[in-house]
Amino acid sequence: MYYSDEVIEEVRAKNDIVDVISGYVRLQKKGRDYFGLCPFHNEKSPSFSVSRQKQMYYCFGCGAGGNVFTFLMEYENYSFAEALKFLADRAGVELPQQEFSKEARERADTRAVLLEINKLAAQYYYVQLKNSQGEQALSYLKNRELSDDMIRAFGLGYSNKYSDDLYQYLRGRGYQTDVIARAGLISVDERQNVYDKFWNRVMFPIMDVNSRVIGFGGRVMGDGKPKYLNSPETMIFDKSRNLYGLNRARSSKKPYFLLCEGYMDVISLHQAGYSNAVASLGTALTLGHASLIKRYVKEVYLTYDSDEAGTKAALRAVPILREAGITARVIRMEPYKDPDEFIKNLGAEAFEERIGRARNGFMFGLDILEREYDLGSPEGKTDFMREAARRLTEFDEEIERNNYIEAVAKAYHVEYEDLRSLVVKTAVRTGLARPAERPKSAGARSDRKEDGITTSQKILLTWLIEDESVFRQLEQYVGPEDFSEGLYRTVAEFVYEQYKEGRVNPAKIMNHFTDEEEHRKAASLFHTKIRELTTAREQEKALMETVIRVKNHSIDEAARNLDPADMAGLQRLMNAKRELQDIQKLHISVN
Ligand code: CTP
Ligand code: MN
Repeated sequence: MYYSDEVIEEVRAKNDIVDVISGYVRLQKKGRDYFGLCPFHNEKSPSFSVSRQKQMYYCFGCGAGGNVFTFLMEYENYSFAEALKFLADRAGVELPQQEFSKEARERADTRAVLLEINKLAAQYYYVQLKNSQGEQALSYLKNRELSDDMIRAFGLGYSNKYSDDLYQYLRGRGYQTDVIARAGLISVDERQNVYDKFWNRVMFPIMDVNSRVIGFGGRVMGDGKPKYLNSPETMIFDKSRNLYGLNRARSSKKPYFLLCEGYMDVISLHQAGYSNAVASLGTALTLGHASLIKRYVKEVYLTYDSDEAGTKAALRAVPILREAGITARVIRMEPYKDPDEFIKNLGAEAFEERIGRARNGFMFGLDILEREYDLGSPEGKTDFMREAARRLTEFDEEIERNNYIEAVAKAYHVEYEDLRSLVVKTAVRTGLARPAERPKSAGARSDRKEDGITTSQKILLTWLIEDESVFRQLEQYVGPEDFSEGLYRTVAEFVYEQYKEGRVNPAKIMNHFTDEEEHRKAASLFHTKIRELTTAREQEKALMETVIRVKNHSIDEAARNLDPADMAGLQRLMNAKRELQDIQKLHISVN
């Protein structure tokens, strides 16, 4: 982190979380907290809560949570430094320049310059399209039936026929050759001649989720090769973490995305009213793409090209999406090549109908598999069902697996029970699923115990945060050192320190976690529903058991790590054991 804790805390304190989030999510006050529809997953009833008191948000549905920085990091895809900058500007806090480390400042500065250059280039190409040099390009786009609105919305442009026109323009704006090269817009040969990378092409600016131009795709107007030329990956352009059209699709109201292959497909679909269309940038879908999508929707309709390559790409995308927790459906474009041609020929209504008839991703895989077998013959069909059974073993969750077994049995006219027993047999044989009563290994058991103790630590820590009187009753018996789990230990240290100074300030604690995973984990501490459905008496009993479990574990650990020669350590341990007996006699009362 490049800024002092004080500056970060000042920025945080000056940006009330309810005000900031209200700019993105419609919130309603209910009791002390505010609720709304979670922007990080799809839902119909609000489980996203924002607390003004804690200055934290938390979604009970998907577990997203954190402070105002976390929110912007997740929602806007900002780095911590970018979120800090944004909120500092919003609150009129001037960030001290010198607190940046030199490399950090250089990196941030270079990124900012590359973004500036790409933005200027996009504007330049746009102007070229609209002036006389761009006539042919504009008519090319018109021939492809793109409306002026879409040309503007996607910022389409034209790179003219001069070999270094953009370069000269950018030089004129004061940029050095080396940064223009780092922006991916020129190439320099061994004799130091500079050429624009894009020349006589229709230009598609590629924007990140915040509509910042990070690169370009350029298409020849005709049959030249390569059909598309794309910006190389640069400091600001990572193909596997960006999707074309996402800057618009993110605010679409539909609960799913249409995922297609090409720039033109995305634009055609948006023009036809499908503002939820996105495309990966001339690369195969990655898990990075899938997790990016997961922030906005839980379902994807694949609208890949209908050729062999498109079919293969769809088959590969299905498991990647599933790994990210996204359900995939496949839409077929036959007899047309891609969504662009489909819409042009049959229109949006026919496309809507295809959406309605989309195939479940798994079943689509079987449709394609069918081609390799002769389902008319008993052997062919048996072999096919064996392969289907093998694929069915890949569903970990029993309910889901059984639902698929049912669907497959129905589709291929076999008995559910027969298919199920084939799946179980296959699973046992290939070791994919274990028979239920297999003895657990020692390793697995100690893992489980580990999980149990971490959960107890979490619950105890949550109590200490939630209820000051519980903290006061326990502070002499329990300390941060009793929390063996790293993140909980850190949080506990802050909590004890803050209670000493007054009140717990969860959002301030959150400042110390910059990694997204850590953010979630820490945030959930401040929002666990510990009091639900139980009486005070039951809560007291459960809390007591938790304290004893955590304490016992901590004493065991200390005993295990004790150096036999450490007399002071031994003494401490004996004291701790005596204390444990005191704790057992204690009556803790909860508020
Ligand atoms: N692509 C690429 N480089 C190429 C060809 C394709 O980067 N030489 C990428 C582009 O992102 C393109 C996508 O792959 O949009 C799909 O390619 P293709 O189906 O060939 O093109 P279309 O999108 O159908 O383009 P058009 O309709 O303009 O022919
Ligand atoms: Mn096309």
